[in-house]
Amino acid sequence: MNIFSVLAIFLAAATANGYSGLPHPLALASSFSLIYHELDNINLGNCSLANATLPLNATKYPLPEPCRNLTLKHVALGRGTQNYTCPLDASSNPQSTIKPEATGAVATLFDASCIVSASESLLHQVPGIISTTPLGSLAFMAALVAQGTRSTNLIVGEHYFDAASDPVFDLSLTGSNSWIVSTKKASVPAPYSTSESGDDVPWLKLGYKKGQNIQEVYRVVTSLGNPPSTCAGQNSTILVPYAAEYWFYG
Ligand SMILES: *[C@@H]1O[C@H](CO)[C@@H](O)[C@H](O)[C@H]1NC(C)=O
Ligand SMILES: *[C@@H]1O[C@H](CO)[C@@H](O)[C@H](O)[C@H]1NC(C)=O
Ligand SMILES: *[C@@H]1O[C@H](CO)[C@@H](O)[C@H](O)[C@H]1NC(C)=O
Ligand SMILES: *[C@@H]1O[C@H](CO)[C@@H](O)[C@H](O)[C@H]1NC(C)=O
Ligand SMILES: *[C@@H]1O[C@H](CO)[C@@H](O)[C@H](O)[C@H]1NC(C)=O
Ligand SMILES: *[C@@H]1O[C@H](CO)[C@@H](O)[C@H](O)[C@H]1NC(C)=O
Repeated sequence: MNIFSVLAIFLAAATANGYSGLPHPLALASSFSLIYHELDNINLGNCSLANATLPLNATKYPLPEPCRNLTLKHVALGRGTQNYTCPLDASSNPQSTIKPEATGAVATLFDASCIVSASESLLHQVPGIISTTPLGSLAFMAALVAQGTRSTNLIVGEHYFDAASDPVFDLSLTGSNSWIVSTKKASVPAPYSTSESGDDVPWLKLGYKKGQNIQEVYRVVTSLGNPPSTCAGQNSTILVPYAAEYWFYG
């Protein structure tokens, strides 16, 4: 068994236990020992991105390519929430046709450079697995895997919106002091949507507004994050869990 099947098992165990918190202690313990055993000699912080390929042709209309003078600097898995608001009276109004309004997002960014260097197809499966996994379980797993592999923490940064409502990616935990305040350049519908309306947030190309070491960001292979189609019966704040791959070029 390789490292990636172990990770997949751990993630599946965490998912099966849903929102109740950490996975069942026995499932957790056996996952721990598997991970320690399998990852003992692997340095997860040391994987090359030289041959990684952004999956731009998976959508009906491809996003524009990265600028030619840039190189791929980081690949991360993001897990967090997309936030929306509804009018206060919508929660008691089953007829409301008002649509939820996007107000931003927040996500934790996990290092995925080792996964992508070994198997891109495995990487593309992970957002669908972790979009409903409780964040506490994932953070715990990341810390554990990092310790087992003697790499630094697999949590490499965070994604949030600043006071001007611009998307920010702060990768200062990579040790490279990389960050970007970005601006949307292009958006295409996600290709893997299961429902008619589409549960998965669009794929995006984001460009540079301010920052260091990063010029462009792609959000691809999204899982969930889209809001309910109307505000009928909804609270004034809606937080929709989501996961995605983020590819950073600089
Ligand atoms: C990590 O990087 C070092 C230095 O480039 C290299 O010698 C080593 O083989 C790499 N290890 C792995 C597991 O890729
Ligand atoms: C990238 O692919 C080339 C050609 O297949 C290969 O020679 C090279 O070793 C690969 N580099 C890495 C870091 O995997
Ligand atoms: C899509 O991209 C992949 C990787 O870049 C490539 O191998 C494949 O041939 C492309 N498929 C199409 C239909 O262009
Ligand atoms: C890449 O080229 C663009 C213009 O096409 C320029 O704005 C940007 O600063 C360049 N980036 C790097 C890292 O050279
Ligand atoms: C989104 O919701 C999360 C959780 O409540 C919160 O921490 C974050 O600040 C919100 N972000 C925006 C832009 O609304
Ligand atoms: C509205 O918020 C309450 C309290 O946080 C929660 O229990 C309820 O499930 C929410 N309703 C919807 C439709 O999300």
